[in-house]
Amino acid sequence: MKKVITYGTFDLLHHGHVLLLQKAKSFGDHLTVALSSDEFNAIKGKTAFFTFEERKLIVEAIKYVDLVIPEHNWEQKTEDVLRLGIDTFVIGDDWTGKFDFLKPHCEVIYLSRTDGISSSQIKNYYRETIN
Ligand code: CTP
Repeated sequence: MKKVITYGTFDLLHHGHVLLLQKAKSFGDHLTVALSSDEFNAIKGKTAFFTFEERKLIVEAIKYVDLVIPEHNWEQKTEDVLRLGIDTFVIGDDWTGKFDFLKPHCEVIYLSRTDGISSSQIKNYYRETIN
Protein backbone atom coordinates (compact mmCIF):
# COMPACT_ATOMS: atom_id res chain seq x y z
CA MET A 1 0.00 0.00 0.00
CA LYS A 2 1.38 3.40 -0.99
CA LYS A 3 1.00 6.02 1.75
CA VAL A 4 0.75 9.78 1.21
CA ILE A 5 0.84 12.64 3.73
CA THR A 6 0.00 16.33 3.55
CA TYR A 7 0.00 19.16 6.13
CA GLY A 8 -2.11 22.25 6.65
CA THR A 9 -4.72 24.18 8.59
CA PHE A 10 -7.68 23.52 6.27
CA ASP A 11 -9.86 26.22 7.86
CA LEU A 12 -13.17 27.20 6.18
CA LEU A 13 -12.77 24.22 3.85
CA HIS A 14 -13.01 25.31 0.21
CA HIS A 15 -12.64 23.80 -3.27
CA GLY A 16 -8.87 24.54 -3.36
CA HIS A 17 -8.46 22.28 -0.31
CA VAL A 18 -10.62 19.53 -1.81
CA LEU A 19 -8.67 19.60 -5.10
CA LEU A 20 -5.38 19.41 -3.16
CA LEU A 21 -6.68 16.41 -1.17
CA GLN A 22 -8.02 14.73 -4.33
CA LYS A 23 -4.65 15.12 -6.10
CA ALA A 24 -2.75 14.02 -2.98
CA LYS A 25 -4.80 10.80 -2.74
CA SER A 26 -4.21 10.09 -6.44
CA PHE A 27 -0.51 9.49 -5.64
CA GLY A 28 -1.29 6.50 -3.42
CA ASP A 29 -3.80 4.30 -1.60
CA HIS A 30 -3.86 5.93 1.84
CA LEU A 31 -3.87 9.65 2.67
CA THR A 32 -2.93 11.10 6.06
CA VAL A 33 -3.64 14.78 6.77
CA ALA A 34 -1.53 16.34 9.52
CA LEU A 35 -3.84 19.12 10.65
CA SER A 36 -2.35 22.15 12.38
CA SER A 37 -3.37 22.34 16.03
CA ASP A 38 -4.74 25.60 17.40
CA GLU A 39 -1.51 26.02 19.40
CA PHE A 40 0.63 25.54 16.28
CA ASN A 41 -1.53 28.02 14.36
CA ALA A 42 -0.83 30.55 17.12
CA ILE A 43 2.92 29.95 16.63
CA LYS A 44 2.42 30.54 12.86
CA GLY A 45 0.49 33.77 13.61
CA LYS A 46 -2.76 32.28 12.23
CA THR A 47 -6.17 32.26 13.92
CA ALA A 48 -8.52 29.65 12.45
CA PHE A 49 -12.27 30.29 12.49
CA PHE A 50 -12.95 26.63 13.30
CA THR A 51 -11.23 24.85 16.19
CA PHE A 52 -8.92 21.89 15.65
CA GLU A 53 -11.69 19.44 16.62
CA GLU A 54 -14.15 21.11 14.22
CA ARG A 55 -11.62 21.15 11.36
CA LYS A 56 -10.74 17.50 12.11
CA LEU A 57 -14.41 16.48 11.90
CA ILE A 58 -14.74 18.24 8.53
CA VAL A 59 -11.48 16.93 7.01
CA GLU A 60 -12.25 13.36 8.19
CA ALA A 61 -15.52 13.55 6.23
CA ILE A 62 -13.66 14.07 2.93
CA LYS A 63 -13.68 10.81 0.97
CA TYR A 64 -10.02 11.14 -0.05
CA VAL A 65 -8.84 11.30 3.59
CA ASP A 66 -8.05 8.12 5.53
CA LEU A 67 -6.42 9.50 8.70
CA VAL A 68 -6.11 12.88 10.44
CA ILE A 69 -3.30 13.47 12.94
CA PRO A 70 -2.34 16.69 14.73
CA GLU A 71 0.51 18.89 13.53
CA HIS A 72 2.11 20.39 16.63
CA ASN A 73 5.35 21.89 15.29
CA TRP A 74 7.61 22.40 12.25
CA GLU A 75 10.00 19.64 13.30
CA GLN A 76 7.70 16.60 13.39
CA LYS A 77 7.60 15.87 9.63
CA THR A 78 10.61 13.55 9.44
CA GLU A 79 9.42 11.59 12.47
CA ASP A 80 5.86 11.34 11.04
CA VAL A 81 7.16 10.10 7.67
CA LEU A 82 9.30 7.39 9.30
CA ARG A 83 6.74 6.35 11.96
CA LEU A 84 3.82 6.13 9.50
CA GLY A 85 5.82 4.55 6.67
CA ILE A 86 5.01 7.39 4.26
CA ASP A 87 6.03 7.02 0.59
CA THR A 88 5.01 10.47 -0.68
CA PHE A 89 4.79 13.93 0.91
CA VAL A 90 2.51 16.35 -0.95
CA ILE A 91 1.87 20.07 -0.36
CA GLY A 92 0.88 23.16 -2.35
CA ASP A 93 3.49 25.01 -4.39
CA ASP A 94 3.36 27.99 -2.05
CA TRP A 95 5.87 25.79 -0.13
CA THR A 96 8.15 24.85 -3.08
CA GLY A 97 11.60 23.78 -1.87
CA LYS A 98 10.76 24.20 1.83
CA PHE A 99 10.41 20.49 2.57
CA ASP A 100 13.13 19.06 0.32
CA PHE A 101 14.87 17.87 3.52
CA LEU A 102 12.37 14.97 3.49
CA LYS A 103 13.74 13.64 0.16
CA PRO A 104 16.09 11.08 1.77
CA HIS A 105 12.99 9.50 3.38
CA CYS A 106 10.15 9.86 0.82
CA GLU A 107 9.10 11.38 -2.49
CA VAL A 108 8.33 15.14 -2.16
CA ILE A 109 5.74 16.69 -4.49
CA TYR A 110 4.66 20.35 -4.69
CA LEU A 111 1.26 20.76 -6.35
CA SER A 112 -0.10 23.84 -8.13
CA ARG A 113 -2.52 25.76 -5.94
CA THR A 114 -6.02 26.47 -7.15
CA ASP A 115 -6.20 30.11 -8.28
CA GLY A 116 -8.40 32.67 -6.63
CA ILE A 117 -9.34 31.06 -3.34
CA SER A 118 -7.86 30.81 0.16
CA SER A 119 -9.14 30.74 3.74
CA SER A 120 -7.66 34.22 4.27
CA GLN A 121 -9.51 35.52 1.22
CA ILE A 122 -12.83 34.23 2.58
CA LYS A 123 -12.14 35.87 5.96
CA ASN A 124 -11.13 39.16 4.30
CA TYR A 125 -14.22 39.14 2.09
CA TYR A 126 -16.56 38.85 5.06
CA ARG A 127 -14.52 41.31 7.12
CA GLU A 128 -14.91 43.92 4.37
CA THR A 129 -18.50 43.25 3.30
CA ILE A 130 -20.35 42.34 6.50
CA ASN A 131 -20.75 44.77 9.37
N1 CTP B 1 -4.21 25.03 -1.20
C1 CTP B 1 -4.37 24.90 -2.59
N2 CTP B 1 -5.10 25.85 -3.28
C2 CTP B 1 -5.64 26.90 -2.62
C3 CTP B 1 -5.49 27.03 -1.22
C4 CTP B 1 -4.76 26.06 -0.54
O1 CTP B 1 -3.87 23.96 -3.20
N3 CTP B 1 -6.29 27.81 -3.34
C5 CTP B 1 -3.43 24.03 -0.49
C6 CTP B 1 -2.18 24.63 0.18
O2 CTP B 1 -1.15 24.81 -0.76
C7 CTP B 1 -1.88 23.56 1.22
C8 CTP B 1 -3.29 23.07 1.62
O3 CTP B 1 -4.17 23.49 0.57
O4 CTP B 1 -1.16 22.49 0.65
C9 CTP B 1 -3.75 23.63 2.95
O5 CTP B 1 -3.57 25.03 2.88
P1 CTP B 1 -4.03 26.07 3.97
O6 CTP B 1 -2.90 27.00 4.28
O7 CTP B 1 -4.71 25.41 5.09
O8 CTP B 1 -5.16 26.85 3.11
P2 CTP B 1 -5.24 28.35 2.59
O9 CTP B 1 -6.59 28.49 1.97
O10 CTP B 1 -4.05 28.68 1.74
O11 CTP B 1 -5.21 29.17 3.96
P3 CTP B 1 -4.59 30.60 4.30
O12 CTP B 1 -5.28 31.61 3.45
O13 CTP B 1 -4.90 30.77 5.78
O14 CTP B 1 -3.10 30.51 4.04
